[in-house]
Amino acid sequence: MSGPFTLSARALSLKPSATVAVTSRALELRRAGVDVISLSVGEPDFDTPVHIRAAATAAIERGETRYTAVNGTADLREAISEKFRRENGLVYTPDAVTVTSGGKQALFNAFFALLSPGDEVLIPAPYWVSYPEMVALTGAVPVPVPTRKEAGFVLDPEVLEAHITPRTRMVVLNSPGNPTGAVFPPDVLQAVAASAQRHNLMIVTDEIYEHLVYDAEQVSIGRYAPDHTLTINGASKAYAMTGWRIGYAGGPRHVIQAMNAFQSQSTSNASSVSQAAALAALTQHEATNRFVAGAREAYRERRDMIVAGLRALGLPTPTPQGAFYVMADTTLIHPDELEAAGRILDEAKVAVVPGTDFGAPGQVRLSYATSLEKLHEVLRRLAPLPGSA
Ligand SMILES: Cc1ncc(COP(=O)(O)O)c(C=O)c1O
Repeated sequence: MSGPFTLSARALSLKPSATVAVTSRALELRRAGVDVISLSVGEPDFDTPVHIRAAATAAIERGETRYTAVNGTADLREAISEKFRRENGLVYTPDAVTVTSGGKQALFNAFFALLSPGDEVLIPAPYWVSYPEMVALTGAVPVPVPTRKEAGFVLDPEVLEAHITPRTRMVVLNSPGNPTGAVFPPDVLQAVAASAQRHNLMIVTDEIYEHLVYDAEQVSIGRYAPDHTLTINGASKAYAMTGWRIGYAGGPRHVIQAMNAFQSQSTSNASSVSQAAALAALTQHEATNRFVAGAREAYRERRDMIVAGLRALGLPTPTPQGAFYVMADTTLIHPDELEAAGRILDEAKVAVVPGTDFGAPGQVRLSYATSLEKLHEVLRRLAPLPGSA
């Protein structure tokens, strides 16, 4: 008798996520009827705004239910081009824009269009878990570039420069960042842009959290090095549209065309109905801006509350400037973050993500995209943990 059919070398190379253990334990507890509060998901708790939902319904009724062009409908690409100009000061004509099934697919297409085996990709750490995994799938080598908690996890351009070798091909930026909430200031972006130009590197900048900034200004690095920048964005976080799966990218036309070629052989195009919804999000400015401003203020209030609460419990927690995550130092609960996350789940019945996969030892990530009431309850539950005040 033979064993299970052998998987591909690529499938076998995918790293099992360290968060899976905590997530499956949380699910087990829930199934057993335990009231677990989950702060592990990276998803807005708001519903998609009404004007966006209405546009999708209208598109279905008009019969917009067929394949679209691979790179997205002309109307949506026009709206994205205009958005990049208006909000980011970036000049990407509609044929230098592509629409994908989520920001994730834009990143995937970009890495496959730009990277060859052996290329090195610099990724500031802590980083979003998918960057190194996707980069490694192409055969390229992810190279973490450390940042310091004391510097608010903002990248030091000199440290970046020190990691550049003759094989370096790309820098991945994510500002505001998941999991740190760090927002890179203009002088840092200018220095990174200059490095990229000097060493002929492509900057892939993931700006999916651009609207969720609290005390800082979000600036797009593409303004400083347009020929060396691919800008990734999407509808998921800004407009509470995670399930609609709309992402997009703007960049040098030949790079966008190569991304389109990959997409044409994989998913063809993003959902036609979701594209109509995203068009409403990007063109009905008044309603969209009202939603975004309201969500931002709600996140700000939650951030201030959870940061102050965690600090009062004796857990060092830097104030993030953007996105909707905080990184708490849990070495007082347990020096190992996996053990700390396990204790937080078992004893406080709160699910958090250990920093292991983010390149953030000794820390856990908590998402505050949930109600103030639940966050107060989380703090009440954490209070008795040893190490907490
Ligand atoms: C930093 C970052 N980029 C991209 C994404 C992907 O978002 P989506 O594929 O829903 O557009 C996420 C989602 O968690 C994220 O945190």
